[in-house]
Amino acid sequence: MIKETIVSTQNSSGLAHIAPMGIHVNGDDCIILPFRPSTTLNNLLESKTAVINYCDDVRIFAGCITGRRDWPLTIAEKINGQVLQCALAHTEVELVRIEDDPARPKLFCKAVHTANHAPFTGFNRAQYSVLEAAILISRLNRLPLAKIESEIDYLRIGLEKTAGSRELEAWAWLMTVIDKFKAEATS
Ligand SMILES: Cc1cc2nc3c(=O)[nH]c(=O)nc-3n(C[C@H](O)[C@H](O)[C@H](O)COP(=O)(O)O)c2cc1C
Repeated sequence: MIKETIVSTQNSSGLAHIAPMGIHVNGDDCIILPFRPSTTLNNLLESKTAVINYCDDVRIFAGCITGRRDWPLTIAEKINGQVLQCALAHTEVELVRIEDDPARPKLFCKAVHTANHAPFTGFNRAQYSVLEAAILISRLNRLPLAKIESEIDYLRIGLEKTAGSRELEAWAWLMTVIDKFKAEATS
């Protein structure tokens, strides 16, 4: 099963980095698959640790994809690392094995500590819309514009019916990027 999470890592100077990643989960253990080049990959190879943040504030996902990476972090408990303050739960992991690949290496990680911080309060269709739109935008240069536009039109239906203020804010950031991309593509 793949779960959409925010992975936080840090380099040897302690500088934190966060990125949305679809991780392959097996209980608390997981495989992280970063496409090269990737700061997450570099940091994980350097520090051998990461934090998997389970988070329902979709502004973090949309924010990272649109250049807003400055979200509050706190110190991890059992590893050298940092936890997203708004995470509902997090798992601290250690890198145990790498399956190298020129495009997308597989980083096998084992859980060393998991903590819950706030309850899960239910599914929301607008959150799904924001996640899917953020993935489309992270692939803007690899997908045909017509496919992106038709998928956004579909995702907008759930968004408009069910969004709260966080989802609307995240959606607006993503649409600004798409509008700019469209304007550049047609000029
Ligand atoms: C929901 C979601 C899931 C993503 N999953 C992955 C992933 O599994 N691997 C990856 O390389 N990028 C993924 N991305 C895109 C990265 O977050 C983005 O390209 C990021 O900048 C990764 O590079 P970095 O490690 O240098 O930050 C995902 C984006 C979103 C919105």
